[in-house]
Amino acid sequence: MSHFLLMISRDSIEEVRSRVDIVDVISDFVSLKKSGQNFKALSPFNNEKTPSFYVVPAKGIFKDFSSGKGGDSFTFVMEHEKISYIEAVRFLAKKYGVELKEDKENNEFAAEQSEREGLYILMNFAKDYFKEKLHTHEEGRSIGLSYFRERGFTDKTIQKFELGYALDGWTYFSAEAIQKGYNKELLEKTGLVVKKEDGSTYDRFRGRVIFPVHNLSGKVIAFGARMMGKDKNQPKYINSPETDIYHKSDVLYGLFQAKNSIRQHNNCYLVEGYTDVISMHQADVENVVASSGTALTEEQIKLMRRFTENVTVLFDGDSAGIKAALRGIDLILKGGLNVRVALFPDGEDPDSYSRKVGTTAFQDFLKNSTKDFISFKADLFSAEAANDPIRKAESIKEIVNSISIIPDPVKRSVYIQETSHLLKMPEQVLLSELNKILVQERRKGEKATNRETSSKETETASIETIAPLKIDSDAMVHFQEKETIRLLLNYADKSLAGQDQQEAQSLGQFMLQELDDVEFTNPVLKSIFIEFKEGLNDNSIRNTDYFLRHGSDAIKRMVTDLITQRYDTSSHWGDKFHIYIPKETELLDKLAYTNVLRLKFRIVQRMMEDNLKELKTVEAGGDLDKLEKCIEMQMGLKQAERDLASILGIVVSK
Ligand code: CTP
Ligand code: MN
Repeated sequence: MSHFLLMISRDSIEEVRSRVDIVDVISDFVSLKKSGQNFKALSPFNNEKTPSFYVVPAKGIFKDFSSGKGGDSFTFVMEHEKISYIEAVRFLAKKYGVELKEDKENNEFAAEQSEREGLYILMNFAKDYFKEKLHTHEEGRSIGLSYFRERGFTDKTIQKFELGYALDGWTYFSAEAIQKGYNKELLEKTGLVVKKEDGSTYDRFRGRVIFPVHNLSGKVIAFGARMMGKDKNQPKYINSPETDIYHKSDVLYGLFQAKNSIRQHNNCYLVEGYTDVISMHQADVENVVASSGTALTEEQIKLMRRFTENVTVLFDGDSAGIKAALRGIDLILKGGLNVRVALFPDGEDPDSYSRKVGTTAFQDFLKNSTKDFISFKADLFSAEAANDPIRKAESIKEIVNSISIIPDPVKRSVYIQETSHLLKMPEQVLLSELNKILVQERRKGEKATNRETSSKETETASIETIAPLKIDSDAMVHFQEKETIRLLLNYADKSLAGQDQQEAQSLGQFMLQELDDVEFTNPVLKSIFIEFKEGLNDNSIRNTDYFLRHGSDAIKRMVTDLITQRYDTSSHWGDKFHIYIPKETELLDKLAYTNVLRLKFRIVQRMMEDNLKELKTVEAGGDLDKLEKCIEMQMGLKQAERDLASILGIVVSK
């Protein structure tokens, strides 16, 4: 490698260094948010929920607290693209139009490159070759180009996606590559050339139009090649095989062309095919990527998550499309992202539909037909379930199933609330269904851990992928405080079965003891709580009558509010659907215990939010030491939140 260092003059490197702007460089890969004088983002090197990746433009450096990585623009490009220093220099030189003399196409040079760089160079050569054939070769023009034109692709689109054409013959491409000095071994490694058993070779792509697949920095790493006629004996698409630079499951087609738009719209459309991506660009919807024939993977979801938290899945409305959409939804939810869905009319994909109805109608369709995943599932099942209570119960199960996959307990409870509103179903019923599933999952998980220890890793990984919350933590604390007081008012004197029969404790005793050090925020609730504590001290448990007689007006109002039943238990919902709904009084032990934990859980979350605010002020000051402290604090709280959540997961259930 050092030999290449010598090939680029120090002056050239200095020139690159003087041109780079770290914010600009990193923005190509990471969605940066301005924060005081600096910028921050979710770490591109780790999965995290709270941004700990900082860019300090004044110093031209970045620091990633989650992985410990840090440095200048060159370091960033090296780390991110996993390339050498000299490759990073080349990369940035190209970005800023600094000419490095040695950068000329030089075959001897190509042969000496590190293997990965060799693959990149050859793929780039192939891309240029296929483009050239499409635009200037007679066969390319008359067959390939006219095919694209027939599909309505404009010249601009063809350029943007660097579409090409592979001539119909066994060795046109390899002959030219070899003549240009590329070695045979490398040609095989790219998958552009296939070796037969007798040692002879032939071109993989022949007589097909070419769709290059780009990585995040715009380098070509693979090709998809579509046939044009209707030969039933041939696959419609032939794709590059996996190579050192192409791992199918880690790639989303179109992401390079989409990333700015995804950031801008804070949403990413997910489609199935190359042509869907391309046609949507032509319909002025550029925030779109394709899973390209593979079933969506966790890696692909992580990739989207670097640019947005919101994914809209677009699928064909036939049964295969719906199945794919349903599977996609659950996987995306598992990755901690928000999912919406739009199904196209039966038999249409985004490509055919956008061409059929035109840009405006297509965009309207997206706007009007996109549903939250809950509504999507509800509609899907309610269509067939209309008046069938059993089917309805099934559809509820389906929805709750998806909710149970969401890693974040707070988000889960918000979705439960939403479902409750949408289906006019008591929250408690949905919650107990949710808990059932969570317990089952946990049991499964425990069994798996007993068998193989590695699944512990997967669990923490899935917790790490929770997307940032958008919930007002004050409101959540308030809600939980209210719930505490509600339980005390209604059941303070009820004894808990407990584990120890001799020392039967009342609900009031238990909760007041557990929450001894908790300061209530709401003044009315606070004074009720203090009254309860005082009552405990002089052995007279306060009850509703006490407050209604002695309380202030505000207290009376609150108490009245809280002792009115939350759910209409007289409804025959349970009977109708053959689902047994336990009464609250049968669950007092659990209620008391989980309420205590929940209140603490909410308080921890509020502390996290406060600390985040603090973090912002510290950032503006640019003091990296203080910043690190805040982040440590955040991670500690995060751990507490996680612990509480996992206990709640166990306890709420049973
Ligand atoms: N695909 C593939 N190999 C095939 C068929 C499909 O790799 N034999 C992948 C391609 O990435 C394709 C995607 O699956 O883009 C979706 O397939 P399909 O809907 O059949 O193709 P379209 O992209 O819609 O292509 P077209 O509109 O040209 O038929
Ligand atoms: Mn299609």
